[in-house]
Amino acid sequence: MTEDYSPPTSEWYHPTEDIVEHANVPDYEAVYAEAQDDLEAFWAKRANTLEWHKMWDKVLDDSNAPFYKWFVGAKTNIVHNALDRHTKTWRRNKLAFIWEGENGDKVTMSYWRLWQEGNKFANVLRSMGVKKGDRVTIYMGRVPEIIIAMLACAKIGAPHSVVYGGFSDQALADRIADAQSRVLVTADGAWLRGKIVRLKDVVDEAVRRSPVVDTVIVVKRTGHDINMEQGRDYWYHDLMALPIASRYCETEVMDAEDPLFILYTSGTTGKPKGVLHTHGGYQVYTSTTLEWAFDIKDDDRWWCAADPGWITGHSYIVYAPLILGATSIIYEGAPNFPYPDRWWRIVEEYGVTILYTAPTAIRGLMRFGDAWANRHDLSSLRLLGSVGEPINPEAWRWYHRVIGREECPIIDTWWQTETGGFMICPLPSVGLKPGSATRPFPGISVDIINDEGKSCEPGEDGNLVIQGPWPSMLRTVWGDDQRFLDQYWSKYKEQGWYLAGDTARRDADGYYWIIGRNDDVIKVSGYRLGTAEVESALVSHETVAEAAVIAVPDELRGNVIHAYCILVNGVDGSKELEAELKNHVGDEVGPIAKPSVINFVEKLPKTRSGKIMRRILKAEAQGLPVGDTSTLEE
Ligand code: PRX
Repeated sequence: MTEDYSPPTSEWYHPTEDIVEHANVPDYEAVYAEAQDDLEAFWAKRANTLEWHKMWDKVLDDSNAPFYKWFVGAKTNIVHNALDRHTKTWRRNKLAFIWEGENGDKVTMSYWRLWQEGNKFANVLRSMGVKKGDRVTIYMGRVPEIIIAMLACAKIGAPHSVVYGGFSDQALADRIADAQSRVLVTADGAWLRGKIVRLKDVVDEAVRRSPVVDTVIVVKRTGHDINMEQGRDYWYHDLMALPIASRYCETEVMDAEDPLFILYTSGTTGKPKGVLHTHGGYQVYTSTTLEWAFDIKDDDRWWCAADPGWITGHSYIVYAPLILGATSIIYEGAPNFPYPDRWWRIVEEYGVTILYTAPTAIRGLMRFGDAWANRHDLSSLRLLGSVGEPINPEAWRWYHRVIGREECPIIDTWWQTETGGFMICPLPSVGLKPGSATRPFPGISVDIINDEGKSCEPGEDGNLVIQGPWPSMLRTVWGDDQRFLDQYWSKYKEQGWYLAGDTARRDADGYYWIIGRNDDVIKVSGYRLGTAEVESALVSHETVAEAAVIAVPDELRGNVIHAYCILVNGVDGSKELEAELKNHVGDEVGPIAKPSVINFVEKLPKTRSGKIMRRILKAEAQGLPVGDTSTLEE
């Protein structure tokens, strides 16, 4: 094991002729070069595929960098492009989405109907005194009303702050307080694994802690008894039945740079930060990335299996698919409820053509073996996607072979809440290597910078930076410009580069391999190891379903590695297996990567977006306080 250890695979997967021929962008190199040649002209051309109330005076204003402005002087509203304009075309009667509840409920909604529902709720919000610029907090499960509520807010220019429906009362209260939102939209409950999650109880407590809320609108989803406080709480369906909830509502004309939403995400330090996105640049970037990377066509059935409460859901369940006039599948519940083939049944039943999910879900389903998937006809699928963490080659190959019939390209998309849309990902016409997010999206320049501030050689690890602005970049941290500067722009202030917070390397073919967050990189005896590499090695062993490793301080070697492994069904941990796994890692990565301790566990602490919270394992291993656990799954 040396510092210039090369990526673990030289395995190539090339797209079929059919895929290349029908791709929205058949020639990545040409489009990438076009964007490099004249970035502003490139984005102006993309922006011209959308409708604007007033065109921009300037594509990019960098006079106050890094507070960049895009499409300066333009007037627009993302909802005009996502809904209003479709109602004047044949897409009016196309399905915007097909929704399935975990309990089997079904709702389908055309563009026309979604537009009307959005208008009605926008009128309700206006009648509650919500004005342009007011923040509205949304806290509910994966139900159609969350989408209606988000669109209604955007329509009247009220930035939404969606808080994932699994957060605790304190986390919700903190986010309400930070955004200072008067109005909260929620549901009585949500279905998950056959049980009711009592959302309204959480809301009652959160509002008690953050009394800035004076109006709570409650969607009836589960129908169990809840507390309704008079003068504060209103049923959604009652309000939507009032004459005030007219089907017609003027769309607020916004400045391109006006806030669209705040989305809280955990940072390297304590309290979550409110990442701010705006109407103009975000609509251009998210729609372009979806159209090109996932090759969206009018006859597709697009399924982004994320939650609307995370950036993946904001960009690729709500806004981009609607802008493109796509039909989405939305499923409320757990992938393995009531059986591990729930997802595969949905793919078959609705003829899903593109599935976009996270490695953690893939590994979770892989654990149950091939038979559950093989029981279903998955031949409608033509593209698969991955997001959220590095996908280990083992899971990649399973996804490709068992779900994708070895025919579907796997679009591994690297990006962040802050970036708004995909930054590094293949287009379907690009050759793939399992575990690599491949190359930057057209219009994006990235580099990997070593400790000396120089661009890394192939195979060398460094800080992933984004060199220059892009339309859907975060504009600031809500209410905290200084934090925005410190966190993202201070390390490479002179160069003006954005610090992603990830360690990555590039191979000799110019392919990018994300290793993980910088805080997840482990140094053992001076050697640099990515937790993802060691975990990937562990998971490549047939007994291991999922693994997490952490660095634990060691007097002799600086750090040693502790591993936590979830074994596949039917395998028990033993001393022999521990030794075998250590050797396996030694064989796969190098002797230096061998964990010194392997713990066999039933569960790993994860955020709701599926990232393993190593910080918690680390604290526990060292007997230290675990700190903020507000983003922990359960
Ligand atoms: O470490 C990277 C990892 O997720 C981080 C961003 O997390 P979040 O803001 O929650 O957004 C997740 C969904 C976009 C990144 O800094 N990450 C995301 N996608 C990938 C990834 N790591 C490797 N490969 C990916 N495809």
